[in-house]
Amino acid sequence: MRILQVSAEFFPLLKTGGLADVAGALPLALAAAGQDVRVLLPGFPSILAGLTDAAAVADIEAPWGQRARLLSGRIAAPGGTHVTAYVLDAPALYDRPGTPYEDASRQPYADNARRFALLGWAAARLARGLDPAWQPEVVHAHDWHAGLAPAYLAFDAASGGRGGPRVGSVFTVHNLAYQGVFPPSDLAGLGLPPAAFHVNGLEYHGQMSFMKSGLYFSNRLTTVSPTYAREIQTPEQGCGLDGLLRGRSGVLTGILNAVDDAVWDPGTDALLPHPYDVRRPGGKALCKAGLQQELGLATDPDAPLFVMVSRLTEQKGQHLVLDGLDALIAQGGQLALLGTGERWLEDAFRERAAAAPQSVHTTIGYNERFAHRLFGAGDVTLVPSMFEPCGLTQMYGLKYGSLPLVHRVGGLADTVVDCTLEDIADGHATGFVFDRFDADGYGRALRRAFALYRRPADWRRVRSTAMRRPADWQAAAAQYIGVYEQSLA
Ligand code: ADP
Ligand code: GLC
Repeated sequence: MRILQVSAEFFPLLKTGGLADVAGALPLALAAAGQDVRVLLPGFPSILAGLTDAAAVADIEAPWGQRARLLSGRIAAPGGTHVTAYVLDAPALYDRPGTPYEDASRQPYADNARRFALLGWAAARLARGLDPAWQPEVVHAHDWHAGLAPAYLAFDAASGGRGGPRVGSVFTVHNLAYQGVFPPSDLAGLGLPPAAFHVNGLEYHGQMSFMKSGLYFSNRLTTVSPTYAREIQTPEQGCGLDGLLRGRSGVLTGILNAVDDAVWDPGTDALLPHPYDVRRPGGKALCKAGLQQELGLATDPDAPLFVMVSRLTEQKGQHLVLDGLDALIAQGGQLALLGTGERWLEDAFRERAAAAPQSVHTTIGYNERFAHRLFGAGDVTLVPSMFEPCGLTQMYGLKYGSLPLVHRVGGLADTVVDCTLEDIADGHATGFVFDRFDADGYGRALRRAFALYRRPADWRRVRSTAMRRPADWQAAAAQYIGVYEQSLA
């Protein structure tokens, strides 16, 4: 099958979160399963810089008249392979400081509707044969940034399109909380008929929602874990779209994300000073000692080291970590945090590190290399998210033997087995899971982690179960292929 993946982020070239990891890994897994996959990305500077053998495919005129060049080329992937990519070269839209979505003062760019409409528009044009050398059979759009692609395809098809074969559309929700909502005035010039702005369409409380467009107009929907697929059909977690999602539950599948072994494997990870694996875990203690020393934490092998690598935002439950920090320190633990996001959280973690430098270390910023070292050194990975569509850091924690401590929600519930006595005895337990999202629920999970840490034989047993958990992309890729086939049925 010829499959076009449409995404705003792509590891290793541009990443603000897990979307990039998935957008980078899934095409490789699909290709390994024999599929003919290409990706379509906006021409952000780091994406253009990573595109080799670039050639112009076509000029594109956006519905509002702006012109862009569509390039195609190769992007080198971890593990020595590569991905064929289409990239939208439109410096006026994409060559800007800040993140892909916000300016340097963290404000969304005022023209985000057009910046990301062009992504969907280009996807639909490719589906209609813009590149005579390669025409996708399925367009797979990721998150709101690509949410207009299915709408363009649907209206094209409704008006007879430009003829040619039917194209399947698949839309994946990575996080329903980010919806790409814009004032209705932004709809002008986007090239969609007035009928699109309807409750049965992309209209959302008088606004235009790119997320709703993806959910409404795609043939098939997926999200990144089975539990989240159920949760987003409830008013509590449906972000106002639960009714639509319940109505489309027959075409919605939860497919759990996985881990790219070429990037995340403690046995081969060149970013770890001492690689290790489940049969020879000795390097892990050396990674921990080295990190403790480097960060100025007490160099104590018996102090469980809790790590957290995360966006700092309400979703991730960091207020529980802050509230529980005294207890963590009092029980002899240490915390090393790497993150960036909301200022008050950055400041609060900085203050806590300054007050107890032997026990707490805070690194504010984004640092891929340091993230690997934290999972390598950590005993416990904290992911106490309020909600979590899938979550990747708990999976990296599992793989690196840094046992996840998680709230039982979304993909966290689907990937971590709590250390109950029976699950330890049965060899199923892999981490610490709490149900009540409050200080007590979190604090009790913390105490379970300390209690297990004091039983080294059990700890090692749980750790090796965690490290052995199968997490490669093969199974997920097979499920996506099934969904693509359904989208064409
Ligand atoms: P989300 O996508 O909601 O942020 P995920 O757990 O799915 O959460 O993915 C987060 C990804 O971003 C992981 O690969 C994680 O290691 C990475 N990450 C998050 N914050 C940082 C940071 N400050 N530095 C380096 N990597 C980070
Ligand atoms: C989103 C979600 C996260 C998920 C990631 C990749 O950013 O917040 O839970 O793991 O997408 O699918």
